[in-house]
Amino acid sequence: METKIIKVDNKITEDQLKDIKEVFDMGGLVVFPTETVYGLGADGLNPEALKKVYKAKNRPGDNPLILHIAETSQLEGIVENISEDAKNMMEMFWPGPLTLIMNRTKDVPNEATAGLETVAVRMPEHEIARDILSYCNKPIAAPSANLSGKPSTTSFERVFEDLNGKVEIIVDGGKASVGIESTVVDTTVNPPLILRPGKITREDLEVIVPNIGIDESIISKDESIIPKSPGQKYKHYAPKAEAYCFVGNLDNVVKEINKRIAEQKNEKIAVLATDETIDGYEGAHFITSLGSRENLEEIASNLFEDLRKCDDEKVDMIYVEGFELRGLGVSIMNRLLKACSGRVVFGL
Ligand code: TXA
Ligand code: MG
Repeated sequence: METKIIKVDNKITEDQLKDIKEVFDMGGLVVFPTETVYGLGADGLNPEALKKVYKAKNRPGDNPLILHIAETSQLEGIVENISEDAKNMMEMFWPGPLTLIMNRTKDVPNEATAGLETVAVRMPEHEIARDILSYCNKPIAAPSANLSGKPSTTSFERVFEDLNGKVEIIVDGGKASVGIESTVVDTTVNPPLILRPGKITREDLEVIVPNIGIDESIISKDESIIPKSPGQKYKHYAPKAEAYCFVGNLDNVVKEINKRIAEQKNEKIAVLATDETIDGYEGAHFITSLGSRENLEEIASNLFEDLRKCDDEKVDMIYVEGFELRGLGVSIMNRLLKACSGRVVFGL
């Protein structure tokens, strides 16, 4: 299929919105930016369109999708028995990078929920996403716009790499600034449970729901702990190269990575460092900084793009510095644990 590119300069135009709506109404696929990562969208209530989403991404059929809405009034007809905690979280964090799992109605197709009795819903904040969702006026299912298993996409160029020829339209709206996917909270259990950490941290959520829980598999490298969210159990965010993460005292981390580089003279190695450490490495084929340790938002924003850059460099191995398990550090480490398939050295 020929993919049409819609470039948005300042604001998406009425003509561009019309083209997009037409594709959704026909059951086709449109990739659009959100504040977290790009999303691969389809009519969330059309089973045939939803099947195409799984096919385009090569996504396992038991991994449910998130329905995206522009207004809380669109919850009507798709969810029921909304808990007080869910209402309070919506009030505080929507629109924004928070996905809530709620009880679904029978009008939501099984293809959206992978057969579960619950459905994930999110109201994004990104202006282009909001304009599209209001104009189309129906829930749009949108998983991250990457091939299954690979790092999510945060720019038009990376979307094009993965999905050109597989979707009707790609909307180019520049960089997705948050850089990691939304926080997912199950509100059908009491107390609510964080299933995937994101930009909105446990600490942020505790202000609204003091007793909120967190799924212990999120930051465990023990693969025998089964995650409660289907999507978390798959190989994820994985660059082609074998990635390793090192956590602990910064001087020790730099020493350990340098030691390994020196021992592996025949391998092409990339290092994902930070502004504070980048000058301390020697002998790597490719080295870049994820950003400053003082600014975890910057680190999150660059993480997936930098993992993809390592693949561009065709390295054999990637050595990444780890972060403290606090605030946004938890979300960054969750992605790194998966990118490294559990190859994480703690306690340096
Ligand atoms: O930021 C985001 O959330 C992005 C943008 C595009 O909105 N979307 C995204 O979608 O990350 P996806 O499909 O890559 O991740 C959805 C996650 C998966 O881990 C999935 O298993 C989980 O949400 N999920 C969806 N429905 C669920 C449900 N009913 N119960 C538990 N987990 C669910
Ligand atoms: Mg994804």
